[in-house]
Amino acid sequence: MGQTLWFASRATGLVALVLLTMSLVLGIVGSNRVASVRWPRFALSGLHRNISLMTVLFLAVHASSAIIDPYAGIRWVDAVVPFVSSYHPFWLGLGAVALDLMLALIGTSLLRTRLSHRLWRTVHWAGYLVWPLAVVHGLVIGGKDSKLSWVISLNVTCALVVLVAVVWRLRSASHPDSEARRAATVGGR
Ligand code: HEM
Repeated sequence: MGQTLWFASRATGLVALVLLTMSLVLGIVGSNRVASVRWPRFALSGLHRNISLMTVLFLAVHASSAIIDPYAGIRWVDAVVPFVSSYHPFWLGLGAVALDLMLALIGTSLLRTRLSHRLWRTVHWAGYLVWPLAVVHGLVIGGKDSKLSWVISLNVTCALVVLVAVVWRLRSASHPDSEARRAATVGGR
């Protein structure tokens, strides 16, 4: 196998980061109630859901290939229990926290109809935490490979996209119409 598994892990890690970015941005677009005839809300939320599921799929391959590759001696438990790995315990641990949060987000979303809206939303706020944890994990643990100019450009592009989306979200959250809309939404549930 040689380096194949290691390259597979790196490639799927980078794809997962791009998918995570897309999922976060689509979540923000959805929560800002943006919709058009071409992109009705159900289509946006379907895309958000499917991209989130794809992210988890790529993360599963990312973590599995790093574990199966004997080079770093990473165990299955290290992928889900943070900071217990002998290989870069802290930086790998950040990836494990991000994965755990991601699984919690997906799990509570699949069970959404059985949970209170407040609980679902509280867990969903963790989505904002997953992204920076994943970026720091990838940049540091990726070592020399993460310093390649195209890898840096990819990270910077993802960061800019997330920054614009978050600023837009914060601005629309403080809009006077938002309070009325929130009150109407809570009243309607
Ligand atoms: C949301 C969760 C995660 C994301 C988005 C993510 C993403 C990334 C990215 C982008 C890289 C850098 C690849 C490169 O620059 O070449 C990376 C590296 C790495 N990740 Fe993750 N990761 C996550 C979770 C995990 C977990 C749970 C594990 C546990 C096995 C893990 C193991 C690794 C390892 C060992 C590397 C270093 C690969 C190398 O040195 O080339 N990651 N990750």
